Amino acid sequence: MKACFMGLGYIGLPTAIIAARSGVDIVGVDVNPKVVEMTNKGKLHIIEPGMEELLQEMVATGKLKASTKPEVADAYFIVVPTPFKGNHKPDISYVEAATKAVVPFLKDGDLFVIESTSPVGTTEHIAKQIFAARPELEGHIYIAYCPERVLPGNVIYELVHNDRVIGGMTPEASDKAVEFYSQFVTGQLHKTNARTAEMCKLTENSSRDAQIAFANELSFICDKAGINVWELINLANKHPRVNILQPGCGVGGHCIAVDPYFITAEFPEEAKIIAQARETNNFKAQWCAEKVKSTMLQFELDRGRKPQVAMMGLAFKPNIDDLRESPAKRITAEVMQSFNNADIMVVEPNITEHKVFKLTHFEKAYEEADIVVFLTAHNEFKTLEWRDDKVILDFCGIFKK
Ligand SMILES: NC(=O)c1ccc[n+]([C@@H]2O[C@H](COP(=O)([O-])OP(=O)(O)OC[C@H]3O[C@@H](n4cnc5c(N)ncnc54)[C@H](O)[C@@H]3O)[C@@H](O)[C@H]2O)c1
Repeated sequence: MKACFMGLGYIGLPTAIIAARSGVDIVGVDVNPKVVEMTNKGKLHIIEPGMEELLQEMVATGKLKASTKPEVADAYFIVVPTPFKGNHKPDISYVEAATKAVVPFLKDGDLFVIESTSPVGTTEHIAKQIFAARPELEGHIYIAYCPERVLPGNVIYELVHNDRVIGGMTPEASDKAVEFYSQFVTGQLHKTNARTAEMCKLTENSSRDAQIAFANELSFICDKAGINVWELINLANKHPRVNILQPGCGVGGHCIAVDPYFITAEFPEEAKIIAQARETNNFKAQWCAEKVKSTMLQFELDRGRKPQVAMMGLAFKPNIDDLRESPAKRITAEVMQSFNNADIMVVEPNITEHKVFKLTHFEKAYEEADIVVFLTAHNEFKTLEWRDDKVILDFCGIFKK
């Protein structure tokens, strides 16, 4: 069996490698020639523990090769980006472009799967695109939507062990896709239709977003009411059927902070909670920035000098180096701009340098700062001791005070 993966990014490349390991011949296609060149040399262009060794093995044994152009195969996978446009409307033009590139190669009996996170109806739309160009294929190829839900950093394990949702345009297409994935997935493969599978992926991330928004809303209320939100949530969670998440400085990353818009853009009348959750989580970052700014002004009024400030963490979640859509980065930039790049130390232990921010070691920053702002709950920060001589703004629960 030969499969063609369109898009060799954080999801496409690992999936292609794991499929190759289970015996599938892979041609991985990417429009970025640098990605293709590195992949063919066995060099991983993404960060994922253990993956480069596997890639080298697959390239050496000839099971995987990369190209800028697709080839004839038995199965095609679309794993390209699906960002949103300026007005929060989903942009599926990459999916359309990747499909257009493989359409000339499709033949009777082929499997065509979209893995990219997509708005509801995308698979039907793409099927129409295929059959408009190749009407003779209607009823002769198998089209399905199969979303990915791996956790970066644990991809080798999760690609194999996670359950997957397989949404065929027809029951036969679901069967065919299940046949493919069962070559390397030991988690359960749940069959459904394409629209449900599309909505399932969006639902998973919107659910996380809404739950975090609930915790963030509690943090606003508790701040006004003089209640420690960490203690409150801990106590409420002692109820056997309550499980509130932790508040933070907002929601980031390229999934949870993005995917809910794929629902709100198409169902604005219905998706009220989902839309509000996005607003609440975006507002949390603004609220944190305002807190930092007012604390800095108060410090100056009280002590007659400007404070030294440490912004602790830039990543969008703990213990990773990913700064995409990060509220911590946004808050830091906002505070620095408002104070004309005043004496602000920026800390991110998971990266060595940043093109905008000059980085300071976390222990040095904690020692020297008058105001310490915890934005991301990295393990390093949890080794620090509470200091009464500092003003500490703990937005991510390092000390839970
Ligand atoms: N990264 C995650 O953790 C994650 C998790 C679940 C779902 N997803 C979804 O999976 C999809 C892919 O995400 P990703 O993180 O792998 O993206 P990515 O940006 O890391 O990689 C996408 C790759 O596709 C390539 N590409 C763009 N247009 C192309 C085309 N027409 N033909 C061939 N290649 C093309 C790009 O050059 C890039 O290398 C997105 O829809 C994303 O929302 C991502």
